[in-house]
Amino acid sequence: MDTRFTHLVGCRLPFQLAVLGGVGTTELAAAVSTKGGLGMVPYGVEPPATELGPSGIGFLIPYLPSLDVIAEAAGRVRVVEFFEGDPDESLVRAGHSGDALVSWQVGSADEGRAAEAAGCDLVVAQGVEAGGHVRGKVSLDELLPATLAAVGVPVVATGGVGTAERVGALIAAGADAVRVGTRFLACPECNTHPVYVEALLAAGASDTVLSDDFDDDGHWPAAVRVLASSLARARRTGNRSTMPPTREVEDPLAMACYAGTSVTDLTRIQPAAAVLRDLANRL
Ligand SMILES: Cc1cc2nc3c(=O)[nH]c(=O)nc-3n(C[C@H](O)[C@H](O)[C@H](O)COP(=O)(O)O)c2cc1C
Repeated sequence: MDTRFTHLVGCRLPFQLAVLGGVGTTELAAAVSTKGGLGMVPYGVEPPATELGPSGIGFLIPYLPSLDVIAEAAGRVRVVEFFEGDPDESLVRAGHSGDALVSWQVGSADEGRAAEAAGCDLVVAQGVEAGGHVRGKVSLDELLPATLAAVGVPVVATGGVGTAERVGALIAAGADAVRVGTRFLACPECNTHPVYVEALLAAGASDTVLSDDFDDDGHWPAAVRVLASSLARARRTGNRSTMPPTREVEDPLAMACYAGTSVTDLTRIQPAAAVLRDLANRL
């Protein structure tokens, strides 16, 4: 399927893997890029080889490296993306100077407008249903039309997307692409702790909560959506780190067990290519 996103980015599917801080891997991004989507890695993780297809690197503003490092990273991928901070022309220029497209994940139409004014080539509209780091305060169904009306650049829809029906409905509503995170957390390619995976498989949307508790002891500025059970345990242990449970940790359920409302649709362990096939079967 062709959209403004597929033309701009140069991929076959209007689909972006979410940046998954802590647990996202080169292998996961490579699987999505190979199958026609835009595979993303968090900054610090090696992006997949360019021959596999377009890929991108996501930067979290509270933990940014220097502009030179951003420009160098931008030289190795199709897209650099920023999140959790006001759109900033100097960051966009750093991305462009490395010849990448620049994307900004936003939580409001006004922020989308600011991202376009700062020079971004595309924006990601994040509904409050999203897992992990959440910028938005409104549902995706409210945010998507408002963002499409506010900006001229392609808009990617994200937050709580877990089925092919939902993917198809968002594209029909005007989204240029969809972005999915939580549905990939049980993939063998993802570095999620098996106990976290079990908890995700057992959970539904109502088992998730937005919380300000995981704030890296005052360094992290925004809410995160996690499994309520992990919030309860983290409160008992005093853990406030934004790091989700990777395979290596000892007390996974006391950590930020990120999950979007789409956790309802995460019901089995599947390779990333199979998850993408499921999600894209109406495209
Ligand atoms: C485990 C996890 C880690 C995340 N880490 C990041 C991150 O480092 N940077 C970022 O821009 N977004 C991050 N997000 C948010 C995603 O980019 C995206 O908005 C979200 O996954 C969409 O909702 P969904 O999980 O329901 O698909 C994370 C989400 C999850 C589930």
